[in-house]
Amino acid sequence: MVRVLLNATAAGALQNGRFPQGGSFPNGAIVFKEVRPSATGAPTLYVVMVKDRDNARAGNGWLWAEYTPSGTTVFSVDRRGSACISCHQRDGGTVRDLVRTFERQR
Ligand code: HEC
Repeated sequence: MVRVLLNATAAGALQNGRFPQGGSFPNGAIVFKEVRPSATGAPTLYVVMVKDRDNARAGNGWLWAEYTPSGTTVFSVDRRGSACISCHQRDGGTVRDLVRTFERQR
C-alpha cells in the first residue's frame, strides 16, 4: 500500500489534479511516498524525490532517497538515483518528468 504526497511547489505543476504529459516539475518540488504493509498499518519506508536540477547529487534533475520512519538511510542521496532512474524512465515516466504515480490515474 502506498500513499504519495506533494508539497505545494509540486502540486502547483498539476492541472485539474493531473500532471500534464511532457510537463516538468520546478526546482523545490517534493514528491514523497509512504510504503505501508496495509491501509491501517504504520509506514515502513519513506521514499523521496526532490527536484534540484543544479545539485551535484541530483540524477536526471532529482535528488533520490529512501529512509525508515526512524530516520535510518536506506538509499542515500549520494547515489544520485542509480537504483531508481532506469525504472522511473519506464512506461509513462519519461513524459511525466520521471514521476510515475500519475500513470495510475484514470
Ligand atoms: C522497479 C521499478 C522502480 C524502481 C527500481 C524504483 N521505483 Fe520509485 N516508483 C515506481 C513506480 C511504478 C511508482 C508509482 C507509484 C507506485 O506504484 O508505487 C514509483 C513511485 C515513486 C515515488 C512517488 C512519486 C512517483 O514517481 O510516482 C517516489 C518518490 C519514488 N518512486 C522514488 C524512488 C526511489 C528514490 C527509488 C530508488 C531508491 C525508486 N523509486 C526506485 C517504480 C520504481
